[in-house]
Amino acid sequence: MKVQHFYDKDTATFTYVISDSATNKCAIIDPVLDYDMHSGKSKTTSADIVIKYIQDNDLQIEWILETHIHADHLTSSSYIKEKLGGKIGIGENIKEVLNFWVPMFNSVFDTPLDGKQFDKLFKDCEKFNIGNLEVKVIHTPGHTPACLCYHVENSIFVGDTIFTPALGTARTDFPGGSAKTLYNSIQKILALPDETKIYVGHDYPAEGKEPQYVCTVKEQKESNILVNKNITEEQYIETRNKRDFGKAVPRLLLPSIQVNLRVGKFGKPEENGIQYIKVPVNKLG
Ligand SMILES: [Fe+2]
Repeated sequence: MKVQHFYDKDTATFTYVISDSATNKCAIIDPVLDYDMHSGKSKTTSADIVIKYIQDNDLQIEWILETHIHADHLTSSSYIKEKLGGKIGIGENIKEVLNFWVPMFNSVFDTPLDGKQFDKLFKDCEKFNIGNLEVKVIHTPGHTPACLCYHVENSIFVGDTIFTPALGTARTDFPGGSAKTLYNSIQKILALPDETKIYVGHDYPAEGKEPQYVCTVKEQKESNILVNKNITEEQYIETRNKRDFGKAVPRLLLPSIQVNLRVGKFGKPEENGIQYIKVPVNKLG
């Protein structure tokens, strides 16, 4: 298996391409669609870099995988599917996320509540293949109800569950989030063998420093600032809740959620042919 990472500096997001050397089949995890909320302009620069990598390496895409409905960047899954093919997968608990947010955006006319806009809704412990590689899905709710991890060989792609040891874990104050649930989800990751490589969804390095995208289970157990082997569940919950109390929502929360629930599409144009991003007033925060 080969893993190639890509870093989007604007949203501090990692995208991964996993490929099977024996068959040249591949999957993309968490691709980004560039979006400027002030001008309403989207770009495919980040996605095109990933597409070029796949084409230059003669890879055939089988899957475009989401670890959850992101609240800090837009997904380019649908754009990539249009260009390269592949099936788009996400966790089946997406239905909980849809049930909360679709009424908020009043968008049921172009955002089905049953998740059929995705090609595949993964159950917990479900297995699938990328070429000859077997991938196991592990549901890890807590940051959002629909978060999951993709476990392949000695690597696990964890999205926003646990971050690098210096960063800690994802926040748990989004709708349907829970520090207790996330703590228990993270224990599933930390129960894997010490040498397992953990590929994270974000890093926010200091200016001039390289972002860190991978670490091991052993490193997390020894030194994660929020969930190491010396921290109890109660201590984690208290610290996590304190950190999240009064925290500002992510810059791209509202555009991201509504677009990502449509798999990265901007939705039905109004009578004038223009697509809009909606902002519910005085409903959050
Ligand atoms: Fe997230």
